[in-house]
Order: sequence, then C-alpha cells, then structure tokens
Amino acid sequence: MSESASSRTYRWWETGVIYQIYPLTFADGNGDGIGDLRGIIERLDYLNDGDPKSSSALGINAIWLSPINKSPMIDNGYDIVDYQDICPTFGTLDDFDELLAKAHDRGIKIVLDLVVNHTSNQHPWFVESCTSQDHPKADWYLWQTPFEGQDRPNNWQSYFGGTGWTYCKQRGQFYFHTFNQNQPDLNWQNPDVRAAVYEIVRFWLDRGVDGFRLDASSVYSKDPYFRDNPLKYGATDKNDYNNYHHLYDKNLPENHQIIRELRTLLETYDDRVLIGETFIDNRLYDSVIFHGVDNDELHLPIAFEFPFSPWYPGYLQREIEKKEKVTPADGWPCYFLDNHDIPRHLSRWVECSLCVDANAIAKAAATLLLTIRGTPLLYYGQELGMVDNTDIPEDQLQDHAVVKSDTGETPPPRDGARTPMQWDDSAHAGFSFGKAVQPWLPVHANYPDLNVQSELTDPDSILNFYRRLLRVRQHSPALQYGCWRSLIHYPHEHMAYLRETETETVLIAINFAYEQPFTLDVSLDREAWTVLLSTDHEVGKAIDLPDTLQAFEVTLLQKTRD
Ligand code: NOJ
Ligand code: CA
Repeated sequence: MSESASSRTYRWWETGVIYQIYPLTFADGNGDGIGDLRGIIERLDYLNDGDPKSSSALGINAIWLSPINKSPMIDNGYDIVDYQDICPTFGTLDDFDELLAKAHDRGIKIVLDLVVNHTSNQHPWFVESCTSQDHPKADWYLWQTPFEGQDRPNNWQSYFGGTGWTYCKQRGQFYFHTFNQNQPDLNWQNPDVRAAVYEIVRFWLDRGVDGFRLDASSVYSKDPYFRDNPLKYGATDKNDYNNYHHLYDKNLPENHQIIRELRTLLETYDDRVLIGETFIDNRLYDSVIFHGVDNDELHLPIAFEFPFSPWYPGYLQREIEKKEKVTPADGWPCYFLDNHDIPRHLSRWVECSLCVDANAIAKAAATLLLTIRGTPLLYYGQELGMVDNTDIPEDQLQDHAVVKSDTGETPPPRDGARTPMQWDDSAHAGFSFGKAVQPWLPVHANYPDLNVQSELTDPDSILNFYRRLLRVRQHSPALQYGCWRSLIHYPHEHMAYLRETETETVLIAINFAYEQPFTLDVSLDREAWTVLLSTDHEVGKAIDLPDTLQAFEVTLLQKTRD
C-alpha cells in the first residue's frame, strides 16, 4: 500500500468531484433563452442540497463555471472585456455573491475560469495598445513587424485555423493570437501585465471564490525572439496549427514560472485550488510537468488522455498506469471525459464500441472516471447520458470563434456538446420558461425521454447510477484517496482494479464488452465481500467474489479491516 495514501492530508479538490457548468446553457432564470446565474442558483439543490441522504441531488462537491465575465461572446465568454464584472447576460455581481453564498451553504465550492492568455480585442487594454507604439500599454500584447519581404512576423498559427497574426492598421503592426483574431494574446513578459492579472486574481479570491481553472495555461509564454516553429516532417493536417512543433509558442519553460507565481499568490489564501488546462501536443511531455518541480504549480493539471482514447480498456488502462507512474507523490491526477470543447463521450464512444447500448457504456465510463485515483471533472448533462446535438442548423451555430474565423481552415464548431441542459419534458426541456424565445442553442430532440425528471423516476437510469456512485464514493476513503492497483495487466475487454487504504479495500470490476461474459481471474481472497454497487448483484449483500463478469457488468465490492 502506498505510504502516501495513509500519511497525507487530502484536500477538498482531491477527495471531491467537480462539476463543470457551461453557464449559457445550464439554466435560464429570467426566461430570455440564455442561461444565467439566477438559473444556476435555482438549480443548486439538484447538484447538492447539503443532505447526504437526499432523494434527488446528484452529490457533487464543487462547480467549475465556464467564464461569466463581461464578454462580446465571440468565443462565448473566453474573450473578456472586463475581468471584474459579470456579463449582463448572466446577471450582476450581487447575483454572483448570492450564488457563492448559497453554494457554500450547501457545501459546494465555486471555481472560476480564468482566461488570461488573451483578452477580447474590445478590452480597453487592447484598444489602448492599438493606438500607438509609444503608448504606455504598447507592450501589453505581442506586437511585431515582419522582416523586409515577409508578409507575416513568423509562421505561428492560430489554433482556430490560419495564421496567428492579424494586422492592425491603426498601429501599423501585427498582433499574435493563439485563438481567434478577436482574442489577442497578452504579453506575459511584461511585469505590468502580470501585476494587472494578479490584481484580478486577488479581486475574486477576496470575494470568496475557491479557486480557478486556468484557461489555455500552457501557452502563456512565447519565445522573445519570435522564432519560426519547425514544421513536423510529412505533416498534412487540414488545420495548419497541427503541422508544427510548437517549440516557440507553447509550453515554454517560462510558462512554468508564471504558473508558479499564480500558485504563490493563491497560497496566500486558505484552501484555494489551481486547476489548469494543460493541453500539450508533444507526447514526450505530459500534463504532470505542470505540478511543478517542487509541487509548486498546478494542484490539478487536467489529463487529456481519456478524451483522445478510443473505447478500449487496454488504452484507457495504459493511460491510467502512465499517470500513476509519473504523478509526483505530492501531486494528484485529474481526469475528465467531456467538456465544452469536444464531442460528448457517448457520441464518441458509442460509435467506436460496435454497440448502441449507450446506457451500459455510460455506466461503465462513469465507474471508470469516478473510481480511479484522481479528481473527476463531470460536464453538465454527462450524468444524464446527454449526447451531441448534431442537427443544429448552420445559422443557429454559436461557436463564432471557429465558425466565423476568416484566417483559414477551422476546426469543427463545438456547439453540439453545448446544448441546453435537459431538465424535464416541458418546452425547452425546462431549461428556459421563456415560451416565446428560442434557447441560445436548440435543445436536443431526445429531451422528452432523456431528462432529469424522467431519469430520477427510473431506477436503472444513468442519472440514478451516477447518484449512487457518487454516494458510494463519498463514503469510501479508499475510493477518494486510496492507492490504485490493477489486477489485470493487459486488459482486453474488462478491467479489474483495487483502491486501498489501510482499513478498506474496494475492488472495481468493469466488463466493457456488450455480449461477452469474462472469467474474473484475479488472485484475491474470494470470501466475504460487500457489494457497494453493482449492475448484477444486490447492493449491501455479502458475497463471494464472482467467478464471472457478465456482459457490461459493473461491480464494486468492499472489504474493511479494523
Ligand atoms: C480553451 C477553452 O476551453 C476554449 O473553449 C476556448 O475557445 C479556448 N481555450 C480559448 O480561450
Ligand atoms: Ca437568461
């Protein structure tokens, strides 16, 4: 048993489960068709009503809110014009304070998205920076003039397609943007920029937020000499961004210095968390480098391996094993399946699993995510088995950052995974009471059957499975922070692993196959296991270790010691 499992004190962001809300489509409190803070406040009891025996709450411990600051919404909040105010679409600072207080009353922490790699091009800092090369804010962004005979300062690309450089006529120079041309990158080498960002961080921490998810936290620093990125040998990706080694515009050593500074600032407050979007395309590296040399960077560097893995236990387990090996003893892994940038896992995985039983896949996936060693991030609607809405008419797409980019080939719009939360079978799936308005994005056509209200009444629903699993996790120190050990080295279609503390062992067995039973061939004491949760055995019963795992069976068994 790992020494760390017993001797460490675990923090709320290590033992808890974090739920991501996309505010534009979670709940509309004022009936204008767009999600808002009031809507979230009204739905807090669904997430956690503070009652451990609740008959309807999901039972999560923290909310990560995608951006709620003032924004022209080109990238739906990831383009900010005022970091110290709430976007009127979502409400006011008073609404936010109320949300924070009511969430805290229920034991829910609130984590904000901190989008400081770039601002909106309408942010006053950028507007001022555009005016002249002598302005005091002239160096707040990445301005360059191409060498004689060159049409761009260098070959850096935008992640959303085409060149990352846009010309500003007023200033007579180009500025760099990792994302859309309306999202100019800040110059993090400028101490004034850092000071201004740290002031924003203090503003929210003083208000009582419990931490941040750092947006695009691997691209803050850029090469001061603006050297060209080397082309990948033979690369022919349609999005040119993927054809380069991002040696000079991503994951530079200085980036870690910046995150360390942010962490130092955070540590001056009690019990706040720093989570980071550490998406780095160079597989030689891993998000774990963002823990820092002395565990002084991110508390939770988000692992991107699951979303890029096929529905195949062997691959998934390999990623877990890798993370187990490389995560430092005082670090902590953080996994997710879905977020607002990628197709939902049931849309990805049902297709590659040769099986259409989304209900079974959802339960197996939920079990994996919530029982391995690490903090799980859930994305709103995942607990219902929501899938992507692939029928959104083109003129209703809202992902303007990629849809309207005029700099070149763009990645596909991300709207499919951002449609309204499906609360019930009433109009607009109960997301908005505004009968005369259309929701911000169209509700998925499956909402009459797939919604919170109907799933709460169905004992076999995905939602009730998540609720049970979350409760089991909440009461099991082994599942919260016990060490992880696989019992099957090269899994083909099933996984079996243990989570253990000194006083508790939980065996997790998952059969990913839809028609094939498997022999559970593990060398463990076979007698007297208590069923914590199972698709095939009665919960609470004491049983011997089953010899066979049925098709799509999920079983959690427990043994305790004094
Ligand atoms: C990552 C965010 O998750 C994504 O939605 C956004 O478009 C980019 N960063 C730019 O902020
Ligand atoms: Ca609204």
